[in-house]
Amino acid sequence: MTTLNQGLLSDGEVTERIFAHIDHRTSDKGDEVWHEPVHHYHSSARFADEVRLLKHLPVPFCPSAAIPNVGDYVARSAAGTPLVVVRSEDGTVKAFRNACRHRGMQVAQGTGCAKYFVCSYHGWAYRLDGSLQHIPHRQGFPGVDDAHHGLEPVDAIENHGLIFVTQDAPIGRGALEGLDEITDLLTPDQSIFSSNETTSNVNWKLNMEANLEGLHIKTTHPESFFPYGYDNLTILESFGNNSRVTFPFRRIEKLRGTPVEARNVAGQLTYVYHLFPNVAIAVLSNHTSVTISEPLTTTSTRFITYRMTNSGEETSEANLTRAKRDAGFLADTGSQEDAAAVRAIQEGLTSGANKHFTFGHYEKSIVHFHQTLTRTLERLPTD
Ligand code: FES
Ligand SMILES: [Fe+2]
Repeated sequence: MTTLNQGLLSDGEVTERIFAHIDHRTSDKGDEVWHEPVHHYHSSARFADEVRLLKHLPVPFCPSAAIPNVGDYVARSAAGTPLVVVRSEDGTVKAFRNACRHRGMQVAQGTGCAKYFVCSYHGWAYRLDGSLQHIPHRQGFPGVDDAHHGLEPVDAIENHGLIFVTQDAPIGRGALEGLDEITDLLTPDQSIFSSNETTSNVNWKLNMEANLEGLHIKTTHPESFFPYGYDNLTILESFGNNSRVTFPFRRIEKLRGTPVEARNVAGQLTYVYHLFPNVAIAVLSNHTSVTISEPLTTTSTRFITYRMTNSGEETSEANLTRAKRDAGFLADTGSQEDAAAVRAIQEGLTSGANKHFTFGHYEKSIVHFHQTLTRTLERLPTD
């Protein structure tokens, strides 16, 4: 785990700042307090705007490692639109609206590797570049022009080991703003060892907030994270529209004797990257998780999670075993504690107790999230 980032502290600089905080019993702070109206978590109109925003920005769809070979594809809904993303013949990534040009059937489901996308309804077939290849019973469709009946393309690019799709005319660069200042988040040596989708009855922003501060480590995670970490000791950085929150482990102390530039922070801290607006990447001791939030309703969210080996680590049996143990520990402990807290907040949202939520100085990365979201929503065109 090495970073040579202009926009973020180097690993060595992070450790220096952590040691200063340990010594002074301090933590990174912002200088603003943010009041987020509670109706922003349950208003249908606000939710509809947020989903539209996800179409008007480049948003991570999956890691590049999910489709390494020609023909590999991932089909799923993004901001409510069924899409299919595929590695085309020339190695570039293409994305399409997942709807047959005959009568709209989805042409791909889930994940797989295909030579052609063949619609399972009446058999229209499409090449990996989306062009129409074959119409069975062709004589029944006089006047259908093949050139205008390819799959409808959506803009797709690869950046930082992620595939970004932009469904509608972009109103900004989203997560890409700031990513150009740092080295690759995901590197080609990282492989996916598991992925899954879960749905939870929570608003997508409540869940995101739980990733972005360390104020709750002792109270919410007294036996899972706190024995190994610190209560309210985080490094809070922003880069463009994104943030990085660093959670050190107590064992990081042993690096004090190592020269700053030689400090290897792998296993000594967790980096959580928030990619605006709906993606979290956590670089943990033995694996990296990429979680994409797909808002379904004001009160429900689908989480698409990819678990990958860490950058710079070979994909050996021993490493994979460690990675899976890491992921299992999290899933059984801290993640459940966070999920329970977020569900409890969700249940009380409409209680009327709060007109707004208050995010303080130690919640700087959440303030950045809401400020960026508010600012970006103002640019949303009226549909
Ligand atoms: S809907 Fe796809 S071939 Fe008819
Ligand atoms: Fe937590």
